[in-house]
Amino acid sequence: MQKITCSAPGKIYLFGEHAVVYGESAICCAVDLRTQVQACLSDTVQISSVLGDTGIDHDRYPYVSSVVEKMSEITDIKGIKLCIKSDIPVGSGLGSSAAVTIATIQALNLLFECGLGAEDIATLGHSIEKKIQGVASSTDTYVSTMGGVVMVPLKKKLHIIDCGIVIGNTGKFSSTRQLVSNVAQLKKNYPKIIDPILSTIGRISLTGEKMVAKKEYESIGVLMNINQGLLDAIGVSSPELADLIYAARNAGAYSAKITGAGGGGCMVALTPLSEAEQVASAITRVGGKAIITKVTEHGVRVEH
Ligand code: MEV
Repeated sequence: MQKITCSAPGKIYLFGEHAVVYGESAICCAVDLRTQVQACLSDTVQISSVLGDTGIDHDRYPYVSSVVEKMSEITDIKGIKLCIKSDIPVGSGLGSSAAVTIATIQALNLLFECGLGAEDIATLGHSIEKKIQGVASSTDTYVSTMGGVVMVPLKKKLHIIDCGIVIGNTGKFSSTRQLVSNVAQLKKNYPKIIDPILSTIGRISLTGEKMVAKKEYESIGVLMNINQGLLDAIGVSSPELADLIYAARNAGAYSAKITGAGGGGCMVALTPLSEAEQVASAITRVGGKAIITKVTEHGVRVEH
């Protein structure tokens, strides 16, 4: 085999971002926005995407460059040409770095017949994210590998939810590393206040699990909105996110909250299927970029 294309999905959090970094429960869903990596045997290492063409380049392609280096420890990679295409906006809380990492690992794994299974791919992906971001939970890389709705850290697969999912992008870059570090500082300064907030977020995920199983979208929505209030309390919201969140709620969403690290990036709204277009238009009217999507069962896969 000389050439292979693999893709992996992005994700949204129903509940639990930030708290999951401290071992609390979270529920995350893979969504139908994918990053595609085509790998072809070559004499040198070449990486290309809309960001430009280069070789190993830890500034422009930190995740892909690290995957090539890590996989070279497992197998003999003399050269490889990697072409990346993505539907997932970068640095927006939708797991773009996990998706490109996981799709690249699987493409090299299959091309060089390394024999890595899904758990190995998720673990390797997590170690690469952790090295680059400083602190990273295993959530993004696990969900991108396995797909579906997943409760972490238990790694328990839940039923797929099939309501409308509308993402609103503020268009403002958000650094996960910076936001995780801001929360760590707040927790250090005010442990008696911040620790109970993080454990309440974990409890929201545990309570939400039963509602996800029964597809009780209105109740999931109530919990997501409470979770949003707590994310605001730990300092990861922003005026732009708040505008999109309230626009979505006022337009008929069950719920709307930050997804991912916050500080910019994206919010997510759960909606009745019939209201998704209306919620997307409301997000656009207040300056956001709206994406209507759905939860997907498909984690990393080969594209034909
Ligand atoms: C980022 O998508 C989610 C955070 O909880 C960080 C992490 O889990 O690594 C903020």
